[in-house]
Amino acid sequence: MTTSSNSSNPSQAQTSGMWGGRFSEATDAFVAEFTASVQFDQRFYKQDIAGSIAHATMLAKVGVLTEQERNDIVNGLNTIKAEIEAGNFEWRIDLEDVHMNIESRLTQRIGIAGKKLHTGRSRNDQVATDIRLYVRDEIDAILQLLEKLQNGILGLAAKNTNTIMPGFTHLQTAQPVTFGHHLMAWFEMLVRDSERLIDCRKRTNRMPLGSAALAGTTYPIDRAYTAELLGFEAVAENSLDAVSDRDFGIEFNAAASLIMMHLSRMSEEMILWTSAQFKFVNIPDRFCTGSSIMPQKKNPDVPELIRGKTGRVYGDLMSLLTLMKGQPLAYNKDNQEDKEPLFDAIDTVRGSLMAFADMIPALVPNIEIMREAALRGFSTATDLADYLVKNGVAFRDAHEIVGKAVALGVQESKDLSELSLEQLQQFSDLIQADVFEKALTLEASVNARNHIGGTAPAQVEAAIERAYARLEKLYA
Ligand code: ARG
Repeated sequence: MTTSSNSSNPSQAQTSGMWGGRFSEATDAFVAEFTASVQFDQRFYKQDIAGSIAHATMLAKVGVLTEQERNDIVNGLNTIKAEIEAGNFEWRIDLEDVHMNIESRLTQRIGIAGKKLHTGRSRNDQVATDIRLYVRDEIDAILQLLEKLQNGILGLAAKNTNTIMPGFTHLQTAQPVTFGHHLMAWFEMLVRDSERLIDCRKRTNRMPLGSAALAGTTYPIDRAYTAELLGFEAVAENSLDAVSDRDFGIEFNAAASLIMMHLSRMSEEMILWTSAQFKFVNIPDRFCTGSSIMPQKKNPDVPELIRGKTGRVYGDLMSLLTLMKGQPLAYNKDNQEDKEPLFDAIDTVRGSLMAFADMIPALVPNIEIMREAALRGFSTATDLADYLVKNGVAFRDAHEIVGKAVALGVQESKDLSELSLEQLQQFSDLIQADVFEKALTLEASVNARNHIGGTAPAQVEAAIERAYARLEKLYA
């Protein structure tokens, strides 16, 4: 990064060659650096070049540029792209942003045709276009990661439709569920996350180009053509709105926040489950680290870090919302601040999803320990109440009867299934020998919840099958 001035224009040696015409003194060096964005907006050079190629192609189509000028511009931009990708491009702070860096280099390479590229365009519609293209590409990359993770969850769930664990409410043992069913809850959360991104993509995929600075342009432009070249679904309908609003970025960040919220909840469960107190699952060593002082430690760093990173994505969302709220129409320099929070959220979500997509399929459930835990904590108490209801007892009375049986179990340190038939019958003579196999075993409990959305293994198997079909449709 250098701060050299544009020496090709001696009359403006100290001011910007891109806009210095009306200025009589140089920009303060600190101000130049303070107002620049090239340090971070060079990240979307690819989208900037694609936008410029489409713009120039449209200008040639409507006769504002000659075919020769258009070809020189396209070739020049492609060469610049190669320079950037080879690490040979000199990004200059005095040229403020990615747009002026590339345009200036283009003119340096191809001369007068380069100076014509910005005809009928402003950096205001240019940056609004670039950032939409960039967010659109990132949404596609994130959707791929989500799909990979969702498939990983389905694979693990399919192997665990018969693995029984305690289900919790208030983090207290509630009722037995299958591990497959629990994993399918994760799957549902993540499917909604994908749906939100797919929906957000539609509103992101509108083209600002043609709005120019704010009011449109005097040239006979063909916006629909440029939009088609760039794969936009439609043009933005209002020029003032198109250069100004960043609501698509906020919407993206809101969707990203929800993804992180879900990953954080999943992380929290994995952190609990891998603890010595639960021991429900093992995370392979490659996703964990040790302690420099305590030799026995294997820490679930990846889920912990993702739980922590959730906060910064929420912070990014607040930055963007606050950035937008006070702005009058149309473009304001404030909007330059949209980039870093957006990039931070994108990087964080991508990294987190990448880690999860690798880690989740590698989880190893401790099937026996899960089962043991489900046997503790009276997880089949509701089943006993339901058993009594089916034998003619009103639910509230059944609840009371089972409560007393649980109290006996607590006193004797026994699960309901470990009490004798005689002991159980002292609370109700409607309890018969079939109670063990019909209500008190873990299998009876989960098998009985045999309806769509329930935890019965047969239902979870069917849900997994439907899920594969849903994914195919979702990402078609
Ligand atoms: N670097 C600016 C941004 O990121 C580009 C648009 C600047 N437009 C202007 N009129 N100063 O928003």
